[in-house]
Parts: sequence; C-alpha cells; structure tokens
Amino acid sequence: MDLSTTIAGVRFPTCLMNAAGALCVTREELEALGRSSSGAIVTKSMTLEARAGNPEPRYHGFPGGSINSMGLPNLGYRAYAELIPGLRKFGKPVVASVAGFSEDDFVTIARVINQSQPDLIEVNLSCPNIPGEPQIGYDPEISERLLQRVRKVVTVPMGVKLPPYLDPAHQQTMARVIRNSGADFLSLINSVGNGLVVDPQRECTVIKPKGGFGGLGGALIKPVALANVRAFWKLFEGRLPIIGTGGVVTGTDVFEHLLCGASAVQVGTTLVEDGLGVFDRLGKELADLLTRKGHPSPSACRGALKEL
Ligand code: SIN
Repeated sequence: MDLSTTIAGVRFPTCLMNAAGALCVTREELEALGRSSSGAIVTKSMTLEARAGNPEPRYHGFPGGSINSMGLPNLGYRAYAELIPGLRKFGKPVVASVAGFSEDDFVTIARVINQSQPDLIEVNLSCPNIPGEPQIGYDPEISERLLQRVRKVVTVPMGVKLPPYLDPAHQQTMARVIRNSGADFLSLINSVGNGLVVDPQRECTVIKPKGGFGGLGGALIKPVALANVRAFWKLFEGRLPIIGTGGVVTGTDVFEHLLCGASAVQVGTTLVEDGLGVFDRLGKELADLLTRKGHPSPSACRGALKEL
C-alpha cells in the first residue's frame, strides 16, 4: 500500500518518520535515517552553539514509556547547515528542527538553516529540559512574536512543535498564535514536561538532571497526544497539516493519530528502544490494518474519527 503523504506541498514517501531528538544528532545517525524506511530525516533541535547536553543518566525507558532530560545535545546550527545539503541525496524530505535560548537565536539559526535548503523547518517551542528556561510554547505572547520574526526569514514551509496543552482555552489561544504567525504545519506533541519517575528499589530518581524531572514520552502519553492532534485539527477545520507525535508503538497507534487528524506521525521513544527497523514494522502493521479495514490510504481516514 502507498503510505505516502504530503505536508505543506512536500511529498513524504511514507507517513512515518523520526521525532526530533530520536537518533538524529550526528551525521552518522542522520545518514542512517536516510538509509532507513523513515519517511523523512528530522534533525535534532539545533542551538546556536554545539551542546553536550545535560549530565547522564538523562534518558530512562520503562514499560509504558520513557523519561528524558537530554538538554538539547546537538552539533550547533552551523554543522547542520553544512550537513543538510548532503542529506538530500537520500530522496526524502529533510526537516530541520530549530531551537534556541532567545528570540534572536531562533531568528539567526532559521535564517542560515533556511539557506541550506531543508525541505521544511520545525520550530521547537517546547523543550522542557533546560534548567531555568520555561517552555516558550506556554507563553502565547513570546511564541507569537518569535514565530512572526522567524517567519520573515524562512522561505521553506515552517512548522511549529508545541508542548501538550491540557485545556481547550490554551489550545484556542495557541491556535490564534499559530494563525497569526503563518505556520504551514504543526507537530503535536513534544514530551509531557517535568514528569517524575521514581525507582522504589533504589529509592531514587531514574535520571540525574533537574532533580529527576523530565519529559515523558511513549505509550503513556498517547491519549494526551491524540487529544492535542484532535483539538488542533478541529480548531483549523482540517486545513493545517498536523504531524502527530506521542505514544506510537504499533501500527494501530499510527492509525489512531490519522483518525484524529494527523497527516503523518513521528516516532520517538519506540525508535530509541527498538532501533531503525521500527519504520518497516510500523509501515507493515499500518498497511495491514488499513487493508483489513478497507481504507485505501492513510489520507483516506485522516480526521475521520467518529464521535458518539
Ligand atoms: C532535549 O534535548 O532535552 C529534548 C528536546 C525537546 O524536548 O525538545
């Protein structure tokens, strides 16, 4: 079955891809994504300078999900600007994820990265793991100003990666921000920030940074991810493409994201836990499920969730 999808005019050979952060920091990792069945190469969120990230241990997988506080380890935007043109040879979209510690950082990085011609840029407003730095996506005013500035320097499609919102009022506010910023797509959601996982045996936290607080991912966040995909799909009446992220472990999870309104999904925790073979498995599981249910393609069921 053809699992391709189109987002903001860019064709993806399949609707499955890595989430920014999962196995996508180094040249080797990015090229391995290029050789894999991932439908895109999404870079790690890049900052002005290269970063080693937070002290280890900073990732912990457990049955049901993961907690991380990576702290944006990345090569710095100049390195990705050099790498991106070479990644295009893999014949799939390259998505550059842009982060920063100030509005100026985002603008500087976006301007230079745009010149290296990724297929799309994803602006990450939702990293929960930098000590002392609140998630920008929880401040509508700063988000709007920042996105409008980035929009001015970006000519490729610009998307926004948002944190989870747990109240319709916050989703409505952010939908207004997104509308006013001219974004071309959304990635929903980043990890559920500042969770805490405890090891009762050792009576301690399972990761070191920030006293053990970190972003939750994997199966346990799927209902929150689906709710955000659905809410924003409705707020934009299906007209703004959404990449669903959160809780994708099986082809059925991908299908649920599609039903809620996603045009594609990103895979984080399951990619880290299972490796690059996950894209073949998810593709097969999704194709089998769609065939069994009589859906001719992923787009045929996009947003088609029935309400009781
Ligand atoms: C991290 O590097 O800490 C995770 C990135 C993110 O959540 O955006």
